[in-house]
Order: sequence, then structure tokens, then C-alpha cells
Amino acid sequence: MPTMGALHEGHVSLVRAARTHADHVVVSIFVNPMQFGPNEDLDAYPRQEAQDAALLEQEGVAILWAPTVDVMYPAGFATSISVSGVSEGLCGAARPGHFDGVATVVTKLFNQVRPDVALFGEKDYQQLAVIRRFVADLDQPLEIVGVPTARAQDGLALSSRNAYLSADERGRAAELPRAMQAGVARLEAGEDAGAVLIDIRAALERAGFDPIDYVELCDAASLAPVRSLSAEARLLVAARLGKTRLIDNFPVFPG
Ligand code: PAJ
Repeated sequence: MPTMGALHEGHVSLVRAARTHADHVVVSIFVNPMQFGPNEDLDAYPRQEAQDAALLEQEGVAILWAPTVDVMYPAGFATSISVSGVSEGLCGAARPGHFDGVATVVTKLFNQVRPDVALFGEKDYQQLAVIRRFVADLDQPLEIVGVPTARAQDGLALSSRNAYLSADERGRAAELPRAMQAGVARLEAGEDAGAVLIDIRAALERAGFDPIDYVELCDAASLAPVRSLSAEARLLVAARLGKTRLIDNFPVFPG
């Protein structure tokens, strides 16, 4: 189970799911510089390794693998895995190079640990789709399991980046899942997708989200944008509240 640390209940739900799939759970903690853009939060990203290690021990994790940057990217490192299609829109468009960094580091972690199964959260839905793609394309010999998003009581998806939110922003952040769930209900009732997406955007603007990177309805597997519900779809949003970029997504089922 790859992570970047600053572990929360969302990560714990993944560990617990992992324990139902495997006798021995290995968790990695590595804040991967290759997946952060030049103006992103690599230096500010929360680091609390001792606390994380204690939590993992308590959850019955067998091995914590926490390599250094020098071990992962020694001098002369020159290889990158790039996935086209599924990694191009949404966060891939807003964060150029991000998914190349994810695909490369996750492949390295798989080769180092050689797991039978690896678990990833649906919270990062596009990441999960990208990982499924390169694992299939490159015949990587393991099973990928997706785990539903763990949420706070008010519906906000748990995230290490929620620690950046001020108290006022944390209150307003719950408008993100609220507006999205209202949108899902309308979409599943057969309303026009264009109008629903515009209303979600407006609700987020009213709550102070700026900029809104995307509000998109996509095919659940290919992540190609869709405007009518024939197969299972996914509603995906990325938007910034103050200096914190939040992402979330929900399934949308055709009637
Ligand atoms: P990180 O953000 O630490 O997340 C590690 C794993 O926990 C990912 O699979 C993510 O989807 C999952 N996760 C995070 N919040 C969750 C929530 N609220 N509910 C369920 N699962 C949640 O994602 C990364 O790290 C990195 O990109 C990584 C895959 C480790 C590569 O560097």
C-alpha cells in the first residue's frame, strides 16, 4: 500500500482492507518529488513519520518501507513511465507531469516490494485509473484493488492536505461533497448534464472555491467526458479553497 505519509483514517481504511486480502501488509511512505510540479507543495507537504510508524504498527502492518529520495532517485536516474489517454484530462491537464511521476514511483515501489495485491483509494479516482492502465499494459504481475473514499462526518473526503485548511475554510469545504451529491441525484433522475455541472460550479463559487480546475462527468472506466448516462459514470471535481487544492468524485449510475 503506497502512501506519502501524514496518515489519516482514509489510509487506515486501506490498511484494514489490505489485511482482508493478504497475510502480510507492507505500507510505503515516500513523498515523491517526481509527482509534484515546480509551484506545488512538495516542501510544505506534512511529514510525521514517527506518528505514522506507530499508527501502522498498531494496525498490524508487517513492514514499513520508507526510502529516501537518494535511494529512489540516485544520480543518473533517467526513466519515466508515461500513460496516455486516461492520464491526460482532469488532474493530468491541471498538473502536467504529475501522473508520469505517480506511474514511475508506483512501478518502482511494486518492483521493490513485489506485492501480490496493491490497494489504492477511489479518493484519487484518476490515479487509480492510471495505475490500472499501466499495470495491465506492462503486464505487471499483481492485482489492483480500489477502496471507497473515507469521509469526515460532514462528507468531506479525508486527505492529508485538509491540514492546510483554516477553521473557516474547513467549514466551507463540506460544500464540495454536498454540491456534488445534489448533482449526482439530479443526474441520476435524468436531468441534463450540462445544466447540472454549471450549477455545481456556481455552488462552489458561492462557497469561495477559486479557481475551479474542473467539474466533469466522465465514463467511469475510460474517464472520457460524457454528456448522457448510458454506462456507469463518475462525477469529478478539483477546486482550490484558499491555498488548498481539494479533489473529490462520486459514482453516477444510469437509471
Ligand atoms: P497519498 O495521498 O498518501 O494516498 C495514499 C493512498 O491512500 C492512495 O491510494 C489514496 O487514494 C488513498 N487515500 C487517500 N485519502 C483517502 C480517503 N479519504 N479514502 C480512501 N483512500 C484514501 O496517493 C498518493 O499518496 C500518492 O500519489 C502515491 C500513490 C503514494 C504515489 O506517490
